[in-house]
This record gives sequence, C-alpha cells and structure tokens, in this order.
Amino acid sequence: MAKPLEFTILATHNFARASIMRLPHGEVKTPVYMPVGTKGAMKGVTYQEMDDMGCKLLLANTYHLAYKPSGDLLEKIGGLHKFINWKNNILTDSGGFQMVSLSQLSEVTEDGVTFESPYDKSTMHLRPEDSIHTQNQIGADIIMALDDVVRTTTVRPRMKEASERTTRWLDRDIAAHRRKNDQNLFPIVQGGVDPNLREQSLNDLIQREANGYAIGGLAGGEDKFDFWKTVAQCTAKLPNDKPRYLMGVGYPVDVVVCSCLGVDMFDCVFSTRTARFGTAFTDYGFLKIKNHQAANIFQPIQDKCQCQACKSYTQSYLHYLIAKEEVACHLISIHNLNYLIQLMLNLHQSIINGKLIEFVNEFLRKWYKKEG
Ligand code: GUN
Ligand code: ZN
Repeated sequence: MAKPLEFTILATHNFARASIMRLPHGEVKTPVYMPVGTKGAMKGVTYQEMDDMGCKLLLANTYHLAYKPSGDLLEKIGGLHKFINWKNNILTDSGGFQMVSLSQLSEVTEDGVTFESPYDKSTMHLRPEDSIHTQNQIGADIIMALDDVVRTTTVRPRMKEASERTTRWLDRDIAAHRRKNDQNLFPIVQGGVDPNLREQSLNDLIQREANGYAIGGLAGGEDKFDFWKTVAQCTAKLPNDKPRYLMGVGYPVDVVVCSCLGVDMFDCVFSTRTARFGTAFTDYGFLKIKNHQAANIFQPIQDKCQCQACKSYTQSYLHYLIAKEEVACHLISIHNLNYLIQLMLNLHQSIINGKLIEFVNEFLRKWYKKEG
C-alpha cells in the first residue's frame, strides 16, 4: 500500500512552499489553516458549513473525545469521520496540550499524565500507549505524538526534562501505533525557546523518519522575537519534503509570517473564540461588531467576502443582532473561518504565481493601516 501521506511541493519562494498534501480523505492545499472542533463539534458552526467553505482538514482532540463519547464507542461506529459525517480529513491532537491548558488538574510522570476531569470527579491516566490507542480508534488521517508540554516560559531543568521525555514517549508512541497504513503519526518538536534544546529535539525526531513534523510549545506568552527565531530554527532543519505543522498558531499576521518561514499547517481556536466575543477579522485588522459605530455601517464585515454573513447582512444588522441572538456569533464565526481559509488559499496561489512578496506587502499594509 502507498504511504498515507504524499507531499508534493508545487512552488517555493525562499522558505515558503505551496504544496498539495494527499491524505486518505482527499487532497489539501498548503499552507493550510485547520479549524478546531475540540469535542467532535465546532462551536457554533456545522460541519456542512465547514465543507461549504472549502475546509479540507479539521482538528479534533483526543483528550476530550476519550472522555466523551470515548474511543470504544467511536471504534464501534467506525471512527470519527462516520460519527460526525465528515468526508474530508481530520487531525487529532494527542492530549499533550491539555497538560498546559488543564495544568491545575494534571500530573505528569515518566509513565504518563493523569488528569482530573474538569467536568466531574473522575480521573484519566493517559500514557503514550493510551493516546495512540485512542487515536487509532478515532481514526484521524493525522495523529499526534503524546508530548510532555510545559509552558513556553518554563526554564531548565524542567524544560530539558520535558523535551527529552517527549522523545522517549515518541518511541513508545511508534511502538503502539497499529494503523501505519492509513494514519500518519507526527512527532512534535519541543524545547521551548532554548536553541540548544530545540536542536537536540530536532535531531532526535528527524532520526525517527516520520511522514510529517509538528513544532510545539510555542505561542504561549514568549517574546515575539524568540517565537520567530524558534520557528525559523525548526523550519530550517526539518526535512524539506515533509509537511511542517506549527501548533496553536492562528493569528492572521503570524500565519502569514510563519508561512514565509516555511510552515505548512496551522491550527488555533482564536478565530472562533474571538468571534463569540463579537470580533471579526478583516483585511484592515479586527472589527468589534459590538462597538456602537457599527450601528451606522450599512456594509458587510468585509467588502467582497463570499461568506454567508457578508453576502446577506450589514454590520448594522449584526450589531443589532449581537445583543439579542446567538446567531450573530454564529455568523461572525463563519466569517472568521472563511477569512482564514481564503487567506491560506491566497498565500498558496501567490507562491505559485511568484507574487508572494507583493501579497505580503499588501497584506501588512492593509492590516496595519489605521483608518479602515
Ligand atoms: N497545541 C498547541 N501547542 C501544542 C503542543 O506543544 N503540543 C500539543 N500536543 N498540542 C499543542
Ligand atoms: Zn464574510
């Protein structure tokens, strides 16, 4: 059987690449943004709407799915694709990140991590073997290694321990993986913003010859300069012919800059989370629909946007709606997801057309323009 991932680079500009990633559930153009449906559901957006927007790859979370509906149930029904009726690709994160997001409720040892449920009093012990077993049951096209994740700002010796443990756990992940023919296991580079630890992690992981690699442990409150430098260090060293996934990054400017640094895949809850607070993405930066100025603007959120919100409604109506109805947040979520999906397609196309510099100049000029 052919590999479950084929990565074809169509064009490059310096470090940036435009490519086609072929996965078991279809082709994905990169650079790509993956919307996050943590619990097997997008907050406020249906999968049909995701499909209509052209989403080809979305992210779900092992920790939350293992809790409910459980790996056993998902296996019984034939996997998450069937359960949620999604025909395109899925990537599952391993549960590693919940060590940070639920840090008050988790305890890590060499064996694995134990979580106290944020929902009830139950506990979950997640070893690398358990994460991979559950991800095999869920059946996503890309599955992630269980990593020991600490806050980006953590210092040695704990950062060193976490980074080295991530490599030891990777070997246990690889040994436990039962679906190598139709699921791709991506290791996750760790090491914080310490160049020596990153270098060690990169060397260890590249030796394991995976079908793709993730860069983890960033976008956690570190200095912006350290963030760029660490991303650049990783993309310079990771194999050219394999996809690179920068975890937890989805702020529009970061996505554009990191694509230029050679990142191919992104995910972040920011677009939908910020939409629920009434903030929309536009070419001219963030637009707060709750602000009273919006009441007198009889234009859509974004000129020429083809999303359901912009095709049908003015800012004035959305402003009126937001005080009363959840549907306003739903419409802004759709707009923000559509904005990122289109931004990625434009990046892809501009690399192919040899116009990346012009595209980035225009993007930054508009984004930082004071008057809208
Ligand atoms: N999501 C954002 N950052 C990370 C990370 O470092 N590891 C994992 N597993 N998920 C993430
Ligand atoms: Zn729109």
